[in-house]
Amino acid sequence: MSNMIKAVNLGASGFTRRKFLTGLAIGAGAASLGSYEAVAQMVAGPRARPVRGWGVPEGLVRLSSNENPIGPSPRAVEAIMQYVYKFNRYYRGRGLYGQIAERHGLPVVIPSNNSSEGPEPWVTLGCGSSEILFAIASAYLRDGGQMIEAAPGYGGVVRTARNYGASARLVRTTRDFHQDLDAMKAAVTENTRVVVVTSPGNPTGIIAPFEDLKKFVSGIPSDVMVFVDEAYIEFARNPQDRIGAAPLILDYENVIVTRTFSKIMGMAGLRIGYGLARPHVIEKLEDNKGGRVSSLSVVAAEACIEDGDYQDRARKAAWAGHDYFAGQFEEMGLEYVPSQSSFMLVNVRKDADEVTRKLFEEYNVLVGNGKRRWRMDNWLRVTSGLQAENEAFIAALKKVLVSS
Ligand SMILES: Cc1ncc(COP(=O)(O)O)c(C=O)c1O
Repeated sequence: MSNMIKAVNLGASGFTRRKFLTGLAIGAGAASLGSYEAVAQMVAGPRARPVRGWGVPEGLVRLSSNENPIGPSPRAVEAIMQYVYKFNRYYRGRGLYGQIAERHGLPVVIPSNNSSEGPEPWVTLGCGSSEILFAIASAYLRDGGQMIEAAPGYGGVVRTARNYGASARLVRTTRDFHQDLDAMKAAVTENTRVVVVTSPGNPTGIIAPFEDLKKFVSGIPSDVMVFVDEAYIEFARNPQDRIGAAPLILDYENVIVTRTFSKIMGMAGLRIGYGLARPHVIEKLEDNKGGRVSSLSVVAAEACIEDGDYQDRARKAAWAGHDYFAGQFEEMGLEYVPSQSSFMLVNVRKDADEVTRKLFEEYNVLVGNGKRRWRMDNWLRVTSGLQAENEAFIAALKKVLVSS
């Protein structure tokens, strides 16, 4: 096991559980209570916390969908308020294409409002980055062929590819949850059309470093598309990592990168994301998309992309959550994966179906179930929320683990 994984005690799970329970009993000063549940409740905090999260009903702690917990950017809200009486019109502004291209150091080409004329940009917008994932599958896997992705992985392209009759080769991550780029390269055959790299990975939160990606791309045949999904890369601690794979597009015709306004920009419900690639690739993706994104999403995105203060606050909130979780998991003796994302994987060493069910039914706390989605039987994926939400989750988890 690599030292990337913090394992306070893995060999003897009984020891860790004892340590946790002993801690609880000492804290409560009452092993005689006779019920671990009662002890846990005294130590782990009040049963029902009146937690007030942004955009969810009071008392619901939703740490399951990797949403931004700090509410929307005030500048995005203001932009929507300014625009709201004009949405009877189709949106004609194209400034967002320029803002995005500049952000990633790509040539600024603004598309014409008449889509059949003028040069193609290096940017495409989608209804969330999900629409671009769909377009990639539709453009390159509609006639079958094979795609490659890590397991555990996000799986967004896999679903559409399989619907088209294409096959998906899933390549296991290494034991410490890094995407195994060498094994993914070795899996390429003449049938392969697309290789998906998610950086940071979902559910792992681990980045594929730029130099590794560059080496990887240089070893992939130029007719195989390398798609780098960077939905969470803005949460990386090292600013250099946040640059991501876009510079590779200048050197390689077969690279596509996606980003989204749903995570660091706090606009999940507005549904807007983008893809970056060479113009002829963008053209192909455009041909495989549905309609255009809504005017309100675009004006909010134009405002939020410039709102560095907001993005910093969102990043810091995620890091504070990770630090808090890491400390708590270590105290509880639970293995976890240090994350460069907005969520964290933790091994609770209990059946994840049962733990997630109890967390929700008994404590109104929603987290990702690793068993259901990735066959990781004892793992949860928890989004960093507001501190009160994170504390409510930890308090509920302590209670659930001693009562299971
Ligand atoms: C890795 C990854 N890629 C893409 C998406 C799609 O997000 P959206 O369509 O909101 O941009 C998600 C959503 O959670 C994700 O986790």
